Amino acid sequence: MKIRKAVIPAAGLGTRVLPATKVMPKEMLPIVDKPAIQYIVEEAVAAGITDVLIVTGRGKGLIEDHFDNAYELEDVLRRKGREDVADEVAAIAHMANVHFVRQHKPLGLGHAVLAARSFVGEEPFAVLYGDDVIVSRESVTGQLCRRFEEYGKGVVGVKEVPREEVGKYCTLAVSPLKEGEFAVSDMIEKPTEEQILSCWSILGRCVLPARIFEVLAHQAPGRGGEIQLTDAMAVLAREEGMIAVDFEGKRYDMGNKLGVLQAQIEVGLTHPEVGQGLRAYLKELAKTL
Ligand code: UTP
Repeated sequence: MKIRKAVIPAAGLGTRVLPATKVMPKEMLPIVDKPAIQYIVEEAVAAGITDVLIVTGRGKGLIEDHFDNAYELEDVLRRKGREDVADEVAAIAHMANVHFVRQHKPLGLGHAVLAARSFVGEEPFAVLYGDDVIVSRESVTGQLCRRFEEYGKGVVGVKEVPREEVGKYCTLAVSPLKEGEFAVSDMIEKPTEEQILSCWSILGRCVLPARIFEVLAHQAPGRGGEIQLTDAMAVLAREEGMIAVDFEGKRYDMGNKLGVLQAQIEVGLTHPEVGQGLRAYLKELAKTL
């Protein structure tokens, strides 16, 4: 079944990047010249997604404005002969059908996904975490959708992380299927050392069957008192199995300060306008470090 819908949870408080996120949503932090969430919507669109639901919350209005038309700005740019920039700005509002829903309290990622239930209905859908930007050759959402279509089971995007960092993410019980693909039979959110099943963790992307909503609706709070998406996916993994895909791509965590800096530098180096200048600057700077 073709995946047409995507959900981007973007209602978290972003406490790890305060004070930058006191007023500005972390999903709006720029990487060179585009806010993080624009890269994420572009990734969904590149996978053939036509309808995107962004789950927002208090103080996240800037995200809605970014995906809306900005008539006055476009008008001023066109009068100044800046057609190229005006077109670029205008195109953001037409990338996909972008919808919004509010998560009234930030009760966890699973709770945010549950807010998408009536938008999604009965079809499978992609979830792209609003603060995880992934730069890849083929859209990572596309890589996961392909596997969903192939196996007919929920798919999670995974990477092997250093053992001492697994506790920050989640841990998966996996058995290999083929190069870069695994069957998943269980998972645990933010495991303690004794609970670690493997060093494979979910990083920012999954494609889920609509059944996840039934599970989420009855899900008790887990780690940190939050309704965890991982806990609901663990139920699916145990009941019907899931697929893990070691995706091609580099992920940047825009929810942490170092992640934001790494994204700026690495994406900046490939940027057609500033890449060369940044490279020269970094080489000079490196000599002084
Ligand atoms: P995080 O756990 O990284 O978000 O969630 P957070 O709560 O903002 O983080 P800190 O610890 O306070 O810095 C991953 C994604 O899920 C969204 C976030 O916006 C982020 O894009 N999220 C998280 C929600 O939409 N709702 C929530 O209740 C929690």
